[in-house]
Formats: sequence, C-alpha cells, structure tokens
Amino acid sequence: MELTDKTIVPRNITFGISNSPTRHWAGGDAMKTSMIDCLSIFLPEGERFFIRSLKHYLPQIRNEEVRNEIRGYSVQEAFHTREHEDYNRALTDLGYDVVGMEAQIKQTLRNDNDAVINLAITCAIEHLTMSFSMVTLANPEILEGAPAPYKRLWIWHAVEELEHSAVSLDVFDEVTAHWPSWKRYGLRISTFNVVLFKMSKMQLRNMAKYAEADGEVIDWRFQIRALWAVYVNPGFMRLGFVNIIKYFLPGYRPKVKSFAHLLKFGRAFIGREIPELAHDSVPLSSK
Ligand SMILES: [Fe+2]
Ligand SMILES: [Fe+2]
Repeated sequence: MELTDKTIVPRNITFGISNSPTRHWAGGDAMKTSMIDCLSIFLPEGERFFIRSLKHYLPQIRNEEVRNEIRGYSVQEAFHTREHEDYNRALTDLGYDVVGMEAQIKQTLRNDNDAVINLAITCAIEHLTMSFSMVTLANPEILEGAPAPYKRLWIWHAVEELEHSAVSLDVFDEVTAHWPSWKRYGLRISTFNVVLFKMSKMQLRNMAKYAEADGEVIDWRFQIRALWAVYVNPGFMRLGFVNIIKYFLPGYRPKVKSFAHLLKFGRAFIGREIPELAHDSVPLSSK
C-alpha cells in the first residue's frame, strides 16, 4: 500500500528506554527534561482511555472507513502505551514518584462519564497531542543532546499522532451526526476548555514533584521557571498556540496540508534512523 499523508501505520518498535535511564536527558536541561518526561506520565493511562473511548463505538459505526481508522488508531496507541510504560519504568528507576504523579491522572480519567463525554475528552487531548507533535517535528532542536532512544521515541510518537490526528473527530462526527450543530460545538469546546485547564494544572504539579525528587526547592521562583518552560521557552504552548486555537473554529478538522511536510520529515527520520522499521510497518488504514 502506498503511504499517503492520511495513512495510519502502526510501527511495532521497542526503544528500550528502561535499559539506559538517563537523568536530564534533554542536553542536561532539567526543566526541559521534566516538561517532556511529565508528558510521558500522562500517556499510558491516557492512551488506554482513548482506545476504550473509541472502541466503545465500533459496534454502532457503519462507515467502513471510520471503522478501519479506529482499528489502526488502537494498534498505534497500544504500541505507544507499551513504550511509555517502559519510559515511565525508567523514571521510576531514576527515583521519580511515577505512581504518585499518575494518581490524579487516573482519578481524572476514571471511566464513569457518559461515553460521548469520554469521546469528547479524547478528541480534546488528541488535538493537544497533535499540536505538541507538530511542535516537536517543526523544532527538532528541542531534542538536541538527547540520547538516540529518547529522540527516536518522541519523533516516532509525533509521526503517528499526526497520522491518526483526525480519527477521534471522525468518530465524534459520526456519533453526533444527528445532533444540532450548536450542541456538537458546545460539547466539543466546553470539554476542550476543561481538559486544557486540568492538564495544564496536572502538568505543572507533576513538574514540581519531579523537581522535588531532584532536590530542588519548590518556591515561587521555581513556579515561574516552570511556567516559562511550558509557555515561553522552549514553550510547547507558545509554539503550538496557532494550531491549538484552531480547535475553536466551528466544524474544525485537522488539515493534512498543515502538517504534510512535518510528516514527511518524521517518516524520513524513522526510515533513516531505524531502517529495520520498513519491514515492521503495516499500513492499516488509508482514506
Ligand atoms: Fe499516542
Ligand atoms: Fe493519539
């Protein structure tokens, strides 16, 4: 199958992060490393939640294209979960309280919401993940100084997040097709606002816990430096801002045109850095 910008390719790769846990792997920059490592803390629990939220609707979706997308999506996210569990094991080995940092994420993503709310939460987090993936691929210098396994894992993850960036919204549109557009928009946006607020709060709280384990004093100076790292420099929020706010457009859909060049760069990186992947990559879905 020819790879197009909309092809979902689950790549079964192990990166072995836990074989060589590296403290402050982002070129020795503790704050930058903590900002990125704390994203990994969200992932195993989050990705299991996303798979459940989408698969819940599989029996009722008739559109074969969307059904295939859900299948491709679930395989990609399952591989991501496995690798980030390994990543987080490395963080535990380095002395970070992963269980404590995950606790609030688990509590927030408990599965007792209405299924459509879980789906809207998945769409919101997928949009943020897609935005941060675009930032990573557009600014690979963020990963400068990183040992190869860390760099490879984040580029691989970013590529696959772009490949499946439309899936949860495709499912949301199918499931809510009979709703008035104001109701669909209202749920999508109100959920996004809550998700953005809660995730930012958890991220900053986890960065403080992480720094505490490094022996840092958590005072107002630390809080300002953490806010600076997240929002300004390197500032995933600043760099991703233009894409993040597109979610507020009525009828928003991810535009392949806006990230095709990043996908090309990321796929070339994977092909060059991990050539054996060419044999493991099986395209599961293509529109
Ligand atoms: Fe993922
Ligand atoms: Fe994803």
